[in-house]
Amino acid sequence: MDKIRSLTGMPDYSEKSEIDGVAAKLFHVENSLKEIFKSFNINEIRTPALERTSLFQRSVGDFSDIVNKELYSFKDKNDRSITLRPEGTAGVIRHIVENNLESYSNKFWYMGPMWRYERPQKGRYRQFNQAGIEYLGYEEGLAELELMSVVCLIIKKLNIKNSLIKINHLGNESTKAEFAEAIKNYFEPYKSSLDEIDIDRLKSNPLRLLDTKNKDLQKVLTNAPVLTDFLPKSSINLLNKIKDSFQDFEIEIDPTLVRGLDYYNGFVFEAISNDLGAQSSFLGGGRYDNLSSQLGGKIMNSIGMAIGLERISEISNIETDKKNRASFIILAGVDHTKAYKMAHELRSINENVILETHLSSSSLKAELRRANKYKSQMAFIIGEEELKNNKILIKDLKNESNEQKNVSYDELIKIYKNL
Ligand code: HAM
Repeated sequence: MDKIRSLTGMPDYSEKSEIDGVAAKLFHVENSLKEIFKSFNINEIRTPALERTSLFQRSVGDFSDIVNKELYSFKDKNDRSITLRPEGTAGVIRHIVENNLESYSNKFWYMGPMWRYERPQKGRYRQFNQAGIEYLGYEEGLAELELMSVVCLIIKKLNIKNSLIKINHLGNESTKAEFAEAIKNYFEPYKSSLDEIDIDRLKSNPLRLLDTKNKDLQKVLTNAPVLTDFLPKSSINLLNKIKDSFQDFEIEIDPTLVRGLDYYNGFVFEAISNDLGAQSSFLGGGRYDNLSSQLGGKIMNSIGMAIGLERISEISNIETDKKNRASFIILAGVDHTKAYKMAHELRSINENVILETHLSSSSLKAELRRANKYKSQMAFIIGEEELKNNKILIKDLKNESNEQKNVSYDELIKIYKNL
């Protein structure tokens, strides 16, 4: 019979798998991020993977690449158009608006799979994982600094080298309008060389033209008006304050950074790493104060970011398995239940040890080979004799001498506590 294969661009992640070395790191990174979020007193939120298609059209934007080309949309049995979420922000704001929570302050984090129908390549998948945070109800200033503080802590804790954080400010509504007008005028003579999407962008959100992938347009852009020239003093001050506050990190003001989603206003940022190849951005976000009203709610100050978990895992330099490893070997013929009780108690007195229980009936030699393969530093061996005398044989697997000694159960507890 034919084997059933997974869908293109949708990888499996198994900690044991040799197929993709990233999995163990990915799981470890997820845990580290949760700890960082907790240390900022950010609360978890889980929203559904499926939402109405209109949610993303109205938030991410009709003219964004994501909505234009990359949505996984289907008709359900009721003939409603539904979509697998391409990102997490829209669902969080839908939750707030639906429950009339716009006037409360909230700090949320989420983690989970997202779907975008992109051309798969290294670092770009159709199903990928994001961790995101959203600060809701916080006006410009402190929230921007705190978000950058989260970013810098992540870079430090995951030991990411060669990262660059690009920051920019899209101004307020009036600067945005003035700049959009200037861009429109500038592009007027080049209109015939624009494709349909760029013409639509020119009409609806000219800022997004700065983000074009069209090589000819990129050339035209070199002499285009620069956003920074239109920004109010307060925006420039904020960017400089952020740069000054995190001097241990590489932070650069990039006036061409506009991001690929339509909902941003104000401060935006992206972190990139040259170690990632073409898909260099491993996290990004910004302020989006108008999204709640775009989704039918009251206006609400909002700022957030999302981290690409596959990408950040690839460049993180962390040891995934810092815990001690040990093997608990129950020899053939021994009363398993009695021996297992010991293993159970050991686990409860020191959670820093990963204790593998060997329940096979093969020879001690084979079990020790397994323990070595498993990188156990110590083996606790229990045979019939040991069980009868309330003793256990401890064998050192770390050093070549492979010393071993018989200890009482009380001694074992003491040794195990200090592992
Ligand atoms: P985004 O820049 O579209 O922002 O995605 C954030 C991160 O997700 C990217 O920097 C990248 O690392 C990762 N990513 C995106 N697409 C793929 C893909 N196809 N394969 C692998 N990784 C990918 C957002 O999603 C916004 N919701 C961020 C945000 C939150 N802004 C405000 N709040």
